[in-house]
Amino acid sequence: VKKIAVLTSGGDSQGMNAAVRAVVRSAIYFGIEVFGIQRGYQGLLNRDIFPMDLRSVGDIIQRGGTILQSARCLEFLTPEGQQKGADILNEMGIDGLVVCGGDGSYKGANKLSKLGINTMALPGTIDNDISFTDYTIGFDTAVGVVVDAINKLRDTMSSHERSSIVEVMGRHCGDIALHAGLASGAETILVPEMPYDLNEVADRMRDNFARGKRHSIVIVAEGVGKGEDVAQALKDRHSSLDARVTVLGHIQRGGTPTPGDRNLASRLGDFAVRSLIEGHSDKACGIIKGELTLTDIDLVVNTKKDFDIELYELASRLSQ
Ligand code: F6P
Repeated sequence: VKKIAVLTSGGDSQGMNAAVRAVVRSAIYFGIEVFGIQRGYQGLLNRDIFPMDLRSVGDIIQRGGTILQSARCLEFLTPEGQQKGADILNEMGIDGLVVCGGDGSYKGANKLSKLGINTMALPGTIDNDISFTDYTIGFDTAVGVVVDAINKLRDTMSSHERSSIVEVMGRHCGDIALHAGLASGAETILVPEMPYDLNEVADRMRDNFARGKRHSIVIVAEGVGKGEDVAQALKDRHSSLDARVTVLGHIQRGGTPTPGDRNLASRLGDFAVRSLIEGHSDKACGIIKGELTLTDIDLVVNTKKDFDIELYELASRLSQ
């Protein structure tokens, strides 16, 4: 490869900038010309493509969001749109593309590789819902945001002996809820991967208050439903349960990335470039037990990520 491009796509995540920086700087280090594509696949179709140099990624490693911006692009879902994207890259002599995003972004990279573009996908999403990687870029920071919010909620909930229902992101994946729940000592963690019984939850909360607990934290992954509905359901069961709902929303996608996310992004970005140089294509870059890994994008998008049941059971043991 002589010329590569990088784009960020789908919902942004903290650490995407660190990934872009790593792609650009490693490419230049290895003598490859590198281009940035603005606003994901939409920018590709709009030819919003510009050369990047060492300085264009200066002072971004610590910033949330993505300097390349992101967009959802309906046209790129069509075969015509995908062909147009490949044609534009070919015209510009760009023979490698690094895409940082979630599931939908991976599918786009897979389509382009079928049209002759060498592609690498980096897991950029706070949800941690990409298989064949233990962690995605942004997940650690998002979990930190949730834990920080719960620390604050605990103060006021204890004063009033209330319970707090905290709705967190994760459309199809309970990892943010699980990891933040374990780290913040939540009493109950509701995730789409595990069955739950609201009667049991309500009884346990009532009994805990009777035993002298001063607050109760329930984390609800958005894939389970709305925090407001859970609060109402609990109140319907025991009117004494005075639950307040907090929806953390897009706050979870912002803020300065943790050192863990910056380092993960730096390792994966550099690995993507080195893998393109070695002749790989249509691969998802991941990290499994600390080792960098390459997996066929097809396999990644068609495999549901395993849920860590041991961690879930641990959180439940420790929450008594
Ligand atoms: O980034 C993933 C995610 O945060 C999901 O958990 C959430 O449902 C979704 O993005 C919302 O994103 P948007 O508002 O950008 O569509």
